Amino acid sequence: MKTYKDIVGDGGSDMVGQITEQAGRVQQRMATVKHIVAIMSGKGGVGKSSLTVNLAAAMADRGMQVGILDADINGASVARMTGAGGHQMAGGETGIKPATGHHGVKVMSIDLWLDEAGSPVVWDAPTQKDAFTWRGMVEAATLREFISDTEWGELDYLFIDLPPGTDKLPNMVDLLPQLSGTVIVTIPSAVSQFVVGKSIRMATELLQTPVIGLVENMSAYVCEKCGKEEALFPSGHVAKLAETHQVPYLGKIPFDPRIAMAADNARAFVTEHKETPAAKALLNLAERIGDFVS
Ligand SMILES: Nc1ncnc2c1ncn2[C@@H]1O[C@H](COP(=O)(O)OP(=O)(O)OP(=O)(O)O)[C@@H](O)[C@H]1O
Ligand SMILES: [Mg+2]
Repeated sequence: MKTYKDIVGDGGSDMVGQITEQAGRVQQRMATVKHIVAIMSGKGGVGKSSLTVNLAAAMADRGMQVGILDADINGASVARMTGAGGHQMAGGETGIKPATGHHGVKVMSIDLWLDEAGSPVVWDAPTQKDAFTWRGMVEAATLREFISDTEWGELDYLFIDLPPGTDKLPNMVDLLPQLSGTVIVTIPSAVSQFVVGKSIRMATELLQTPVIGLVENMSAYVCEKCGKEEALFPSGHVAKLAETHQVPYLGKIPFDPRIAMAADNARAFVTEHKETPAAKALLNLAERIGDFVS
């Protein structure tokens, strides 16, 4: 068996050349995209995808052309949340056309390529033990191809729903050259706050992009009947955290079960329940992002 020690140079793959060429393709693709905003969090399950699809719907509702790149290979959810599934995906000579979800939002996600949406992604390999060894590498390559090969066309906003955690970002960094900024999502619990500092450092130092701000999701429960707000966690920490890290605090989005229900039914909560506190908070967030990029 050959080991890496037996490989001379790049083994004839011209790896550097391939990556440079891919980065060039990204530049071309992104030439028609005005603003690219990444939604990130050092933690899973805090509402990144929910915020992404609602922000996209809010922007599209204002007449903007919007796309979402679901960069979460293992936990892809954007196609389902936007109703973009069920499209026949195919790569042409010039690239891949994204699918279309509610509000005309263009979507690219690994889910669109699976026979059955929601199937776990299992990479082909002689054994699953082997697959484990190179899974990270193949995931990164898939993501790089999504970013470089999708034909977005003219877009006002491209939202990137990043995978939870910060470990995959280094693989994407050279492919996100024109990121306008990142929105960091957290929930107001101490353990989540701990990872926020890491996310902020990743965004500023690794991605070298400005942090648009910190959003506090699921901050409180609003009673549907009386409208009274009940805090779910002790409040005030996230705003303080934003101050400590000198990033803007973009406000809080209360817990509203209709956000989850809308996503499950491929509907946009933010445009269907405009008068609710959660939708107002989401619309306000969209506005803050708009102000930031302009
Ligand atoms: N403000 C909210 N009110 C009610 N439910 C919410 C809210 N935000 C998110 N949720 C629900 O919480 C769950 C997790 O949200 P979501 O999938 O958006 O998180 P995520 O950060 O993208 O997760 P992952 O890290 O797994 O990608 C979902 O069921 C979603 O519907
Ligand atoms: Mg998600």
